[in-house]
Formats: sequence, C-alpha cells, structure tokens
Amino acid sequence: MLKILQVTDFHLRQALAGHNGHVHRLSRHVPQLLEAMTRRIADEAPDLVAVTGDLLDVPHALLDGDKSYDLKTIVQQSLADYGLVRRWLEGLGRPWMVLPGNHDYGPAFDVVFGTSPEVMRFGEVAVHAFRDWEQAGNQALRIGPSRVRFEHLLENATETSREVHLQHFVIRPHVDYNYPLLYGDSDDITARAAQAPGRRLLLSGHWHGGTPMVTIGHAQSAVCPAFCEPPHPYRVFELAADGTVAMRQEELGRSFAPGRRLVLIDRAGLLTHSGGFAIREDAAAILDGLSADAHVAIASAWHEPESTAAPWRGVQHLHDAFFEAFGASKNQAEALCIYLPAEGAGGRRLPAERITTEADLIERMAELFGVAPAEVTFLTTNAARRAIARHAGARCPDLTGPEPTAAEILAAS
Ligand SMILES: [Fe+2]
Ligand SMILES: [Fe+2]
Repeated sequence: MLKILQVTDFHLRQALAGHNGHVHRLSRHVPQLLEAMTRRIADEAPDLVAVTGDLLDVPHALLDGDKSYDLKTIVQQSLADYGLVRRWLEGLGRPWMVLPGNHDYGPAFDVVFGTSPEVMRFGEVAVHAFRDWEQAGNQALRIGPSRVRFEHLLENATETSREVHLQHFVIRPHVDYNYPLLYGDSDDITARAAQAPGRRLLLSGHWHGGTPMVTIGHAQSAVCPAFCEPPHPYRVFELAADGTVAMRQEELGRSFAPGRRLVLIDRAGLLTHSGGFAIREDAAAILDGLSADAHVAIASAWHEPESTAAPWRGVQHLHDAFFEAFGASKNQAEALCIYLPAEGAGGRRLPAERITTEADLIERMAELFGVAPAEVTFLTTNAARRAIARHAGARCPDLTGPEPTAAEILAAS
C-alpha cells in the first residue's frame, strides 16, 4: 500500500510583499498554516507528501516582466520564500515532491527545486511530477520535455504498471470557469492516460474549489482544493495492492485562533494619501499600533477614484506596488480585502469568485477571522460605508477630515 498526502496551492507571500488580491487566499498566513500542517502530516505518516503547484503568489509584475517594478528585489524575495517552503518540506522528515504552478516564477523555483526528483518509486508504484506551464491565452499545454516524458511513459506501460501523475493544471473532470483551468490538450492527455495499459492516478491542483475523483478507463483523476483558503483542506490517497484507490479530504479548520478582535482599516486616506496610492509617512506606525492587541486587515475599495480605470488585475498591480513600496520588512497586516460597491460589480470584468462588497464586508471579514461582527472595528473616512458597517453590527468610530492623524486613528481603534 502507498499513502500519498496531497496539499496544494499555498500562494505564499512572506519575504514577498503584499497579499493575493482574493481575501480568502491567506498568502501571509500560510507559514503558520504550514506549521499546523506539520503536526497533521506527522500523525498521518504518509509515504509521500505531494505539493502540486502555486507554492508562491509571485506578484504579476514579475510574471509579466513589468520593468517599472524593482524586479530584482521581487526575485530575491521569491527565492527566500521558496527557501521557506523547502525548509518546511525537509523538516517533515519524509519523501516529498513539488512542481510549479502558474503563480510560481520558474527561474526562482528552479534555483531552489530544480534538482528535486521528477520521479520517485515506492514498491510497484512510480510517482511522476510533470512541470507544465501556461501558454498563449493562459492555457497550459503538456509540450516539450514534459510531453516527451509523458509519451515515453505511456508507450512503455504494461498491464502491471502502477503510476501516479502529479501536475498543476486540470485534466479531468471538466470545470466551468471564466479562466482556462484545464490543459488545452486535456482531451488528448485523458485519452492517452485512460487507454494505456496498467493503472494511473492523476492528481492536480490549480482549481481552488477542488473536484471529486472521476474514473476514465484505466485512469482516475482528481483536483485537490487550495490549502491557502479556509478551511485549509488537504487530501490523503491510499493506493492498495489490488490497484484500488481510496481518497479522503481533511482540513485544518479555522484560519485564526479565537480571542482577538479585528480592526479593519480602509486604505484610502488612512494608509495612503487621499486620491492616490502614495503611502502616508506614518502608515507603518499606524499598522504597528493597531496590531498591538488586534488582528488587522486592510480594506481597499476597488471603486476609489485612483483605481476606477484599472481592470481586476490592474487593481492587484496597484496594491502590489503599494505593499512593495511600503517595504516588505514592515507590518503588512494579515489580510487584504479588495471590495466592491454595495450594489456589486461596478461595470468592469471581475473574476468568477464572489468578491466582497461594502454590504457584506463586515460579515465576511468577521467570518474569516472567526469573530462576531460586534468584535470588528471598521476605520474609514467614508460616511456611507460607516453607516452600512454599523448596520452590520461593527463598531465604526467617526474619523474626521480626509486624512485623520495617526493619533486620532489609533485612539479611535
Ligand atoms: Fe492556485
Ligand atoms: Fe494555479
């Protein structure tokens, strides 16, 4: 029997500044979650720990090669964060395999993980990691050396072949989404894996919602949900000697320990000067002060005048630049919630995930941090938002002026 523990899509940022643009992807909280996972893995005692991509949440500026950013620094931060993941894996004291996803930066991943094995054997079972990348239109293809390995493997398969294939992108089942999740050549990959003799288990990440396991011919295929999002799920696969596969899903549960209230601070006017993303000189002192006795999350409305022209990705760019300029070594708060106007979308293209609005800001953030709405203090200079948040049960002190002083903000919190 072979026991594999799959955990995927960390979207980690630690040395890297900022947060993923989706508030539930808790990029900065991942190190603590990994620590909790260490105990789970020790209890579970799998033969192999498999991490199927999106280890980091590298800012789009680096992935896009946007030279208006300090890319050299972002590369160094990425190397430091890959180092963190590698030390965590080595600390587990058992075999592990990793491969990159579309939020990873290949050159930095290769520096840290380039020599890690692409195939490991456990008795009769061979586990193969396929490193594939998005191509035109953000759609991944199994091409180049990865495709050559895949074809070679299947051509040489026999009735007794027992294989596990690890990859980031989705092969099966189909998932409907407004971003390509499946390999562009997933039909071909599926047909080849299903028809070749022997048995194979295909394990993917990438689709954060995860899927059940499906059987197609000689293959079984499943997508593990993302670890960075509550309730921080992972999966355990047990491959029996007779070829059957048992899958179960476990979860860490709540993200944050109870007992600490939440301060939610609107970025505009309180951390950045009104009318732009320029950082207030006292922003670090404000975040440090607020963090003394509370969880702190940054709220940032996507319809502020300074970002109304940007698409969703552009709004994330603006926040990445803000956190990068703020200084990666400074307090970056525990979460970033980019939220929409109360009425919803605001006319620009949004991701398929439900994005928080002014109307449910308090409710969703209270839930994320495991507190009651009455334990949330919302700091904003916007009177309309204050009214909505008060109605939702949060404490919302009146802050006067477009840019209250640090002393006023801390006193109000
Ligand atoms: Fe992901
Ligand atoms: Fe991904």
